[in-house]
Amino acid sequence: MQIETYYILLVMIIKVCVGSSCHLKGSYDVVEAFKSLVKKYNVEDKVELQASFCLGNCLQGVSVAVEEIDNTQVVENEQVKRTESGLLLSCMNGDATEKIFVDVLLPILK
Ligand code: FES
Repeated sequence: MQIETYYILLVMIIKVCVGSSCHLKGSYDVVEAFKSLVKKYNVEDKVELQASFCLGNCLQGVSVAVEEIDNTQVVENEQVKRTESGLLLSCMNGDATEKIFVDVLLPILK
């Protein structure tokens, strides 16, 4: 009898909206900030960065969806909301990206 072991590699998927509204508000800077933070905190193997079409949160852009995570420990606020698939981050910019990455996402990754 052969016993097979399967390992499930869980990766946090971070989708930065590059729809028209978010693009105008600075999606590019948010993408670059996430790229830098993922390297800085050495979590390249735990995070996949993606671009996304409109996330339906245009007035609160730049919007970011974070998927494939256990969000049960996350405390919601004006910028961080739970969704069925993870989190929706609002009003992201360079400064907000680092704060939310360190305060909300990094604890989930560690
Ligand atoms: S364009 Fe980004 S949420 Fe709509």
